[in-house]
Amino acid sequence: MATLLLVVGVVVGIAYIFRHVVVKGRQCTSKAKLHGKTVIVTGSNTGIGKTTAIDLAKRGARVILACRSKQRGEAALEEVKRESCSNQVVFMQLDLGSLKSVRSFAESFLKSESRLDILINNAGIYLQGRTEDGLGMMFGINHVGHFLLTNLLLDRLKECEPSRVVNVSSLAHLFGNLDFNCLNTHKALGLGTSFTEVLQVYSDSKLCNVLFTHELAKRLQGTKVTCYSLHPGVINSELARNTNSVIQILLKPLSAFFFKNTIQGAQTTLHCALQEGIEPLSGCYFSNCTVKKVSAKAKDDAAAKKLWELSERLCGLA
Ligand SMILES: NC(=O)c1ccc[n+]([C@@H]2O[C@H](COP(=O)([O-])OP(=O)(O)OC[C@H]3O[C@@H](n4cnc5c(N)ncnc54)[C@H](OP(=O)(O)O)[C@@H]3O)[C@@H](O)[C@H]2O)c1
Ligand SMILES: *[C@@H]1O[C@H](CO)[C@@H](O)[C@H](O)[C@H]1NC(C)=O
Ligand SMILES: *[C@@H]1O[C@H](CO)[C@@H](O)[C@H](O)[C@H]1NC(C)=O
Repeated sequence: MATLLLVVGVVVGIAYIFRHVVVKGRQCTSKAKLHGKTVIVTGSNTGIGKTTAIDLAKRGARVILACRSKQRGEAALEEVKRESCSNQVVFMQLDLGSLKSVRSFAESFLKSESRLDILINNAGIYLQGRTEDGLGMMFGINHVGHFLLTNLLLDRLKECEPSRVVNVSSLAHLFGNLDFNCLNTHKALGLGTSFTEVLQVYSDSKLCNVLFTHELAKRLQGTKVTCYSLHPGVINSELARNTNSVIQILLKPLSAFFFKNTIQGAQTTLHCALQEGIEPLSGCYFSNCTVKKVSAKAKDDAAAKKLWELSERLCGLA
């Protein structure tokens, strides 16, 4: 009996430490206040985007919730205002799967807001298909839409320097590969709808985020606009909502124990957006609130440049 109790005690203890140290991970420790600063968070109606927005609003920032659904965006607006006790929160419609929508968002933002101090490219999707511009869905939303958005807002960021761009990528970028032939012929990162094909295309789109940060940092040398990409951790969010129901049922019990909640999942984004003194690390990739080394393919200068030029062509910037 005593041995059994001891074993149970040890197991519970290990599980507790595991959840509260390893899963929880490091916290953003910056005490930065953001009164008078303006921040955009894309995809902030749910998941880590919403908790990121609440934290920034609590610090006094004017926070723009850039979300595609008016209904979900306005519901989140009420919640972010309530949770942060701030009135400096605004919803503006932005569908990253539509280059037209990205352009009209940027136009109305630049007209109605005078500053942009932090741009957080957080929105992401895990689903095969096509955007209205005929791009592969994950390539179009996770990468090209944010590429255009960042470029359209770059002058405003430069006017407000020191300013930052934060790109929420993923550890999945490790498995990414860029097939430029497929990109040129199909405007997609990869085709197919099987489990492994979808995972591959998602990983490819997240590799694009890391490569872009690498190239953008180079292009921003000499300015005080810095940029970072990151892996937020594995989070219990809505990201898997489009996967099949068997996977979702299997994930449920696992995610409750092994995954971060959305507050824990927002910490590395907040670290990159706020931590004082990380400016020399512009262009780097973070995880668990720490800068991490990336593989050769995630800092491949030639691939980053090629992707930049292709993206310019695809969104009509070239
Ligand atoms: N969850 C994880 O374990 C994990 C791991 C690594 C990286 N990430 C990355 O973390 C980021 C946030 O993900 P999350 O876990 O918080 O997922 P989430 O709960 O699914 O939230 C994703 C957000 O992106 C928005 N979005 C999707 N398509 C959009 C579009 N076309 N235009 C504008 N917004 C769009 C969604 O809006 P709707 O509600 O309207 O769809 C939602 O607000 C993503 O970039 C994801 O790749 C997540
Ligand atoms: C994050 O860092 C903390 C503190 O260094 C460490 O205890 C934890 O295991 C790390 N978590 C992960 C997932 O790496
Ligand atoms: C973030 O990623 C987007 C899309 O991949 C890219 O267009 C943008 O330049 C990147 N910004 C930074 C700072 O990396």
